Amino acid sequence: MIKIEHLSYHYSNGEQGINDISIEINSSTSLAIIGPNGSGKSTFIKCLMGILKPQRGSIILNNQNINKLSITQRSQHIGFVFQDPKEQLFKSTIEQEIRFALRKRKDQKDIESQVETILECCSLTSHRSKHPYDVSITQQKFILIGCALGMNQDIIIMDEPTSGMDYKGIKQLAKIVEFLKKEKKTIIMVSHDLDFISEHFENVMIINHHQCIYQGTFKDACRDETVLSQGEYKLPDIARLSLMAKHQLCTTHQEWIELWKKR
Ligand SMILES: Nc1ncnc2c1ncn2[C@@H]1O[C@H](COP(=O)(O)OP(=O)(O)OP(=O)(O)O)[C@@H](O)[C@H]1O
Ligand SMILES: [Mg+2]
Repeated sequence: MIKIEHLSYHYSNGEQGINDISIEINSSTSLAIIGPNGSGKSTFIKCLMGILKPQRGSIILNNQNINKLSITQRSQHIGFVFQDPKEQLFKSTIEQEIRFALRKRKDQKDIESQVETILECCSLTSHRSKHPYDVSITQQKFILIGCALGMNQDIIIMDEPTSGMDYKGIKQLAKIVEFLKKEKKTIIMVSHDLDFISEHFENVMIINHHQCIYQGTFKDACRDETVLSQGEYKLPDIARLSLMAKHQLCTTHQEWIELWKKR
């Protein structure tokens, strides 16, 4: 479990990043973080990653205060994918990026086959020798997702992985998220894509004006439309459609199909 208490961060120019955020994130759950631009989502997860040191509050991971760990120590537990992939890519080929991530892994067995599996699973095999800057934004994001898969940490944090991603990439990301859920990983993802979240995420946290204004299940957030509107979002299409047609909330296409089968 990650227990975050009264977390606050302001930038050196005095700009508020986040203000007094507290939340408990259970292990093996999927949490989506949503909120308007500039509300503090990236600041919050950068504090979790250890890139920013919060001025107030604590982050306790499995009874250990991780504010005191270095980024390297923290990366044993937490894998992350930045909002802008270029901030994280620094090797000369895609394959080298994956190999570098795998080098930091505790278990060094079968590295060769793991490199191949990751390249395959991220559709990067035919691009392995290219410079990471010479592929599309979708592929750049998959390099980082591949690195996180390779590190095999228990917690994976992704900042807006779907933004700028094409349809094929989003489908592929969905498969990876479902795989991580089966592996009982804790997945934390910032996104504005409520349709993606409604299909794949159980829990949601809404940040607005630098504060957490809602935390709970995504379904409960959809039951009370004022919750989503406070975060400046509207109900996902599948939820709206199900409420209009059957007066019963569905947040996934599968639930919608099951509901109609019962007719
Ligand atoms: N490096 C920085 N220096 C100063 N202020 C910053 C910096 N980065 C972010 N901020 C400010 O902190 C606040 C929160 O920004 P943050 O990037 O966390 O928002 P966000 O919710 O991730 O937005 P977006 O949806 O646009 O990615 C904003 O007011 C922003 O202007
Ligand atoms: Mg952001």
